Amino acid sequence: MKVICVENEAAVGKEAARLISAMIRLKPDCNLGLATGTTPMTTYNELVRMYKEEGLDFSKVSTFNLDEYIGLDADHPQSYAYFMDEHLLSKVNIKKENTHIPNGKTLRVDRTCSAYDKKIEDRGGLDLQLLGIGRNGHIGFNEPGDKFVAETHQINLTDDTIEANSRFFECEEDVPRTAITTGMRSIMHAGRIVLIATGESKADAVHAMLYGEIIPQVPASLLQLHPEITVIVDRAALAGSSLADSLFSAD
Ligand code: GLP
Repeated sequence: MKVICVENEAAVGKEAARLISAMIRLKPDCNLGLATGTTPMTTYNELVRMYKEEGLDFSKVSTFNLDEYIGLDADHPQSYAYFMDEHLLSKVNIKKENTHIPNGKTLRVDRTCSAYDKKIEDRGGLDLQLLGIGRNGHIGFNEPGDKFVAETHQINLTDDTIEANSRFFECEEDVPRTAITTGMRSIMHAGRIVLIATGESKADAVHAMLYGEIIPQVPASLLQLHPEITVIVDRAALAGSSLADSLFSAD
């Protein structure tokens, strides 16, 4: 794992966008795996800026989002489909038909999940997967559990995740209890992974991901086995780790 520690959230976004834009320039028809949440917002802002000011071309790019809440329409303001439109997809020259997000309103969850995996595989897999991390170590909505799940699947959200994500909803009761998430296979098969984390609330999860045992109770720990992963964090997200001491000692 390559770890890049930068000053703040804005710098994390710039660095992640730099790696994503490099992929787009290198392979204009690349498949990007994308994430939602607060953390990637600065990354998406920077990609939009690059599109507007530097001509970064999304016309051949395809995107596959990690996850979606079950039960929310695509036009629900808290759905991940809405989020992606708001922050990136409607602001760049990507073709709508090249953007993919699991359908949270499906009546056949199993079929939707297997079709999603097949679509990613048929397109040759992901060239680059952007990830955030939950404070309990989840990636996408792969929650801590007894085993790593390979396929796209339905998941019951943990109380911790429901509580963490309630900040986006009017009250905790409004947070959907289930979601569809891509599994560890499409993530681990991505040619390159960029994981971003900011803030003190992620420090324990980041530490467990970097140094902990590889266990399904910390889904992100599996990323230690990926050969091409770059972790981009701000100082707060590294707080308390031995890596932070060595990185900051030059200051
Ligand atoms: C959400 C998403 C994840 C995201 C994580 C952290 O529940 N499913 O993909 O990485 O939680 O979100 P945030 O960046 O808002 O802290």
